[in-house]
Amino acid sequence: MRFFYKDKAFVVTGASSGIGRELASLLVSMGAKVIAVARSRDKLESLKEEVDSSNLLIMTGDVTVEADCKKAMDLCLPNFGKLDGLIHNAGISMRATAEEADMKVYESLMATNFYSMVYLYKNGIHLLRQSQGHLVGVSSMMGLFSTHLRSAYCASKHALQGYLDSIRLENMEAGVHVMTVVPGFVKTNITKNALTANGSIRGEDSTNTEAGLEPEEVAMSILEGIMKRKRDVFPSRPKEKVGLFLSKWAPNVLDKIISSSHVT
Ligand SMILES: NC(=O)c1ccc[n+]([C@@H]2O[C@H](COP(=O)([O-])OP(=O)(O)OC[C@H]3O[C@@H](n4cnc5c(N)ncnc54)[C@H](OP(=O)(O)O)[C@@H]3O)[C@@H](O)[C@H]2O)c1
Repeated sequence: MRFFYKDKAFVVTGASSGIGRELASLLVSMGAKVIAVARSRDKLESLKEEVDSSNLLIMTGDVTVEADCKKAMDLCLPNFGKLDGLIHNAGISMRATAEEADMKVYESLMATNFYSMVYLYKNGIHLLRQSQGHLVGVSSMMGLFSTHLRSAYCASKHALQGYLDSIRLENMEAGVHVMTVVPGFVKTNITKNALTANGSIRGEDSTNTEAGLEPEEVAMSILEGIMKRKRDVFPSRPKEKVGLFLSKWAPNVLDKIISSSHVT
């Protein structure tokens, strides 16, 4: 893998925490050059202190703002002369019923998890066509089936997956690799940072997230998937893979299992 990633140029969004931070760190450790994007300057600075900083450029930016997405893409040519891969990983979740969740929760989740991908694509696809590179979207099992208390999250990740499936087809001849990442639970800050009904931060973890895969394991599976030009990767526990199977072949059974389980 090290040989494959050496001197490749990547943009990673959501690089200040969890899966994105591991991705940026692993890529730099393998000799890649990385633009790491997130809103938290302090966390990006601490990442820069931990890795080979000559290969890491940090950019404070909000992926819900098109100008910030354009800026991330525009940094590639002057700094690296190319873009080999865009990993759009930034995302937020929620915990509230569909009835109680304020419209601003819907707007925030759609903007962060879905429209951001459109902004990045429109401003960066010409670079990925030049390199016949990789466009990766980090979705979720919730992009393929749904659970309660996450209506906007499920809707945004379903939208993301539909979008990725469409642009994969539009870029086949151009040779751009489009990969969807479908993780199960991962031990990160996603649940702590989830929005509640009124849009405030939940601030509390859940047992499922705490028992999830290590972010490093997920990041490694993403990097392997990129190298092998896979269509999708499903870093998850066997129980979660059963959920995926049931969602396709026995959705009524999955509904019964999920509706009777304690979702936090
Ligand atoms: N953890 C799980 O169980 C799980 C399961 C399935 C899918 N996923 C997906 O995995 C991806 C990464 O999440 P994670 O689990 O690593 O959670 P995390 O630790 O909370 O990291 C989320 C990252 O997204 C960034 N981010 C959020 N909003 C942003 C915005 N508007 N602009 C720029 N960056 C933004 C955050 O940085 P700042 O706050 O500094 O901006 C942070 O770096 C997400 O797309 C999530 O939906 C996670």
